[in-house]
Amino acid sequence: MDRPLTQNIKPDLSPVTLDDYRRAGGYEGLAKALKEMAPADVIGAVKDSGLRGRGGAGFPTGVKWSLVPQGESAEQKYVVVNADEMEPGTFKDRLLMEADPHQLIEGVVIAAYAVQADTAYIFLRGEYHLSASRLEQALGEARSAAYLGKNILGSDFDLEIHLHTSAGRYICGEETALLNSLEGKRAIPRAKPPFPQISGLWGRPTVVNNVETFCNVPHIIRNGVDWYRGLGRGEDAGTKLFGASGRVKKPGLWELPMGTPIRVLIEECAGGMQEGYTLRGFLPGGASTDFLLPEHLDLPMDFDAMMKAGSRLGTGTMIVLDDQTCPVRMVLNLERFFAQESCGWCTPCRDGLPWVVELLEGLLAGRGRPEDLDQLEQLARLMGPGNTFCALAPGAAEPLQSALKYFRADFERYLKPASTARVA
Ligand SMILES: Cc1cc2nc3c(=O)[nH]c(=O)nc-3n(C[C@H](O)[C@H](O)[C@H](O)COP(=O)(O)O)c2cc1C
Ligand code: SF4
Repeated sequence: MDRPLTQNIKPDLSPVTLDDYRRAGGYEGLAKALKEMAPADVIGAVKDSGLRGRGGAGFPTGVKWSLVPQGESAEQKYVVVNADEMEPGTFKDRLLMEADPHQLIEGVVIAAYAVQADTAYIFLRGEYHLSASRLEQALGEARSAAYLGKNILGSDFDLEIHLHTSAGRYICGEETALLNSLEGKRAIPRAKPPFPQISGLWGRPTVVNNVETFCNVPHIIRNGVDWYRGLGRGEDAGTKLFGASGRVKKPGLWELPMGTPIRVLIEECAGGMQEGYTLRGFLPGGASTDFLLPEHLDLPMDFDAMMKAGSRLGTGTMIVLDDQTCPVRMVLNLERFFAQESCGWCTPCRDGLPWVVELLEGLLAGRGRPEDLDQLEQLARLMGPGNTFCALAPGAAEPLQSALKYFRADFERYLKPASTARVA
C-alpha cells in the first residue's frame, strides 16, 4: 500500500535528513514544478487531484489557491502554514514536522510558486520545541541546497520561509486569528469575507493551509493526479494520517487511504479496546466533532460520509469513549477547555461556554434540575453555526449536543439523589 506521507519516517522517529529525503525522490516535485509547469498548471494539478484541506474543514486546496489573484502583479503575497495544532486529541502535524521536515518545506515552496508568493511563515504551536529545532535545521539545509532563497534551483523564483512560534492559544489555529497574531495583534478572528486569499496577512493575498495539506503536494506533483486520486478507497482522494486515543490497546497514528472504514482504524490499527472495556462511542475528528456510535464503525473515513452520519472527519484523530468513562465528565472536560480558550469576541461563546461548564459541574455535584438538560440543549443550539464569529463555539457545541442525544440517560442519572448517582 502506498503511504507517501510517512514512507520516509524512521522507526525511531529521528528526522529524515536532506540526503535521505533526496534519495527517496524528495525535491523532485519542486524541480518538476519549477522547470516544467507554469504556476497555473500547479494549481490545476492540485485542483484535479481532489486534495481537500487536512486542517479540519476539508476545503478543496486547489480551489483555495485559485482564489488568489493571479497573473502579472507586483502585489506582495504570502503563504502561511497552520501548525498551531491545539485541538485536543490531535497530534498528527507534530509527527510530520518532527520526523520529515523537508516534506513540509517542499510542499510550501511548491505552493508559494503556484500562487507566486515570495514569503512564507510557519505558525508553530509554542510547545512544539522539537518541531521548531528540526524545522530550523531543515530550513538551513534547504537554503544551502538552493531549495530556498534567491533563484531557487536556478529559476527566477525566490522564497524565504520564516518560523514563528506561537505564544499558545487554541484560537490562534483559526486562520484569521492566526493572521492577526502573526501581525502582532490580539488573536481574534476577522470577519469573512474578505477571505485571506484576497486580503490576508497585512491585507495582502494569503494562502493558509494545514501542515498535512502541504505535505501532500510534493507527491501530487511528482507522481501525478491519477496516481493520487487512486490512493483513496472512497469518495475522497489520497491518504491521511488517522489517529486513535482513549482506552484502545495501541493508541497512535497511521497513514491510511481516505475512505478506510472506521473499524479498520479502531479494531486493526489500534488493536481494539483494552481488556475489560467495550466501545461506547467516539469523536471521529478530534474534540470538536459530534460523537458517533459502534453502529457507525463501517462508515468510510471521508469528509462527506462523516457529515451524512451527523459528525465530521475533522482532523481524523479519533477520541474513543469506553463503557467505564462517564460521557458527562468527558464532555465537561472538553467544555472546560473550550471555555478557557474562547477569545471572548462574541456573546454565545464567551458567556455560553462558562454557562455550559457551570451547568455540567452542578449536575455532577448533584445540584442538577431536569430543566438544566433543556438549557444545555438550548445553549448548544445558540453556539451553533451562524451565531458566532468563528467555528470555536460551534465546534464546542458538537460533543455536547451529540452526548445529549446519544447518552441522555447518563445525564439523567445525575438528576437522581446523590447516593445513587454514578460518579465515574
Ligand atoms: C478554533 C479553531 C482552531 C483551529 N485550529 C487549527 C489548527 O491548529 N490547525 C489547522 O490547520 N487548522 C485549524 N483550524 C482551521 C483553520 O481555520 C483553517 O480552516 C485551516 O488552517 C485551513 O487549512 P486546510 O484548508 O489545509 O485545512 C482551526 C479552526 C478553528 C475555528
Ligand atoms: S466563537 Fe468564540 S473564539 Fe470564535 S470569535 Fe466568538 S468568542 Fe472568539
